[in-house]
Amino acid sequence: MTDQTLEYVVLRCRGCQTAYPAALEYACSRCLGPLDPEYDAEEVAKRLSRDGIEAGPRSIWRYAPLLPATPGPGDLAPGLTPLVPAPRLAEALGVPGPLLLKDDTRNPTNSFKDRVVAVAVARARAFGLSTVACASTGNLAGATAAAAAAQGLECVVVIPADLEAGKVASAAAFGATVVAVEGSYDQANRLSMQAVEAFGWGFVNVNLRPWYAEGSKTVGLEVAEQLGWSLPEHVVVPIASGALLTKVHQGFGVLADHGLVERTPAKVHGAQSVGCSPVAAAFAAGVDEVTPVRPSGIVKSLAIGDPADGAEALATVRGTGGRVEAVDDSEVVEAIELLARTTGVFGETAAGVTVATVGRLAARGEFRPGERVVALITGHGLKTREVLDGRAGATVTVRPNIDALSEALAPVRPDLAVPG
Ligand SMILES: Cc1ncc(COP(=O)(O)O)c(C=O)c1O
Ligand SMILES: [Zn+2]
Repeated sequence: MTDQTLEYVVLRCRGCQTAYPAALEYACSRCLGPLDPEYDAEEVAKRLSRDGIEAGPRSIWRYAPLLPATPGPGDLAPGLTPLVPAPRLAEALGVPGPLLLKDDTRNPTNSFKDRVVAVAVARARAFGLSTVACASTGNLAGATAAAAAAQGLECVVVIPADLEAGKVASAAAFGATVVAVEGSYDQANRLSMQAVEAFGWGFVNVNLRPWYAEGSKTVGLEVAEQLGWSLPEHVVVPIASGALLTKVHQGFGVLADHGLVERTPAKVHGAQSVGCSPVAAAFAAGVDEVTPVRPSGIVKSLAIGDPADGAEALATVRGTGGRVEAVDDSEVVEAIELLARTTGVFGETAAGVTVATVGRLAARGEFRPGERVVALITGHGLKTREVLDGRAGATVTVRPNIDALSEALAPVRPDLAVPG
């Protein structure tokens, strides 16, 4: 395995700092700590510039010098999703300054997971693997299945059996073998680790995890570029494993290291649901360790009870002066509706968690006038549409004639009623 992009990348153990070559490894053989890619800063500096990025592809690959892979044929080119101002949502939530949504529902399979999968699958191909797989809370399954289909790879997705129908369908449609585990995500994840040993597949978030996680960095890189090469004062990030939050912050840092943005304070806030809030609980308790929980509730995409990068996410939040909040299921549903009705963006439950958290932080007075708040909308609402069942209040069923329409509208929308 060699490929040009990796000449200046090594893997370094997060625990004991041992360096390894950029091979298909994910745990330190000395201390079992996780491995992270580390780039030779001088080599990156030679390749990285604002002009080069701006002239690059309209996808995550515009940041090629900061990514440990090159896309192969069939890559779905995720990323460079819009950063859209949301003034009506800001007003409703009491955010005093600009609120911007990073709309990652606009990725190829409608979640930010297309980013991580693009990098992991590019590495899988460089490693010569023909089967890619994942342990997923839902979105990752669809993203992995789609990338595999587009690139002619075999795909197996391992999910908890109780996922939303829309998530299962969007993996099955791409021809993946869907393994529904009778148990939690954490059990599906443990089974996946055994499957790595037994079958040697490339699990994007297990043995390819060091590469996979790098894809999340591109969210931070794009936000900074889209803010005219500056860092937001606040970013609000949903937490499952904690990788997205950690890597968004790393993305900000690496741009500052290379002088592409000024190193201004950027508070990174975490968002969880009460049904699975191990990181929020540790934050509230003031401890460094994240104690695993058994997830419950409607927010299945964030239902990781034992988050792999939970402690890192917690340390990142604290290091920036941010907060981690936990919001309950009814707040999540209300936030999904509020988001949709004030911005035209239909987010899934994770987005509801983020938007409700923005409201919580605003109510606590965390945001000052003029400060820019970026909320990550990481997945599309159609995949979790059942949480709105029975709430879409404005459907009227009518016979196909105008009198019936007038009659039916009068009680529900008197403002629309036709005179006479
Ligand atoms: C829609 C959505 N948002 C956010 C996350 C959290 O990502 P991470 O596991 O990197 O914390 C996930 C994870 O599955 C997700 O599906
Ligand atoms: Zn180690």
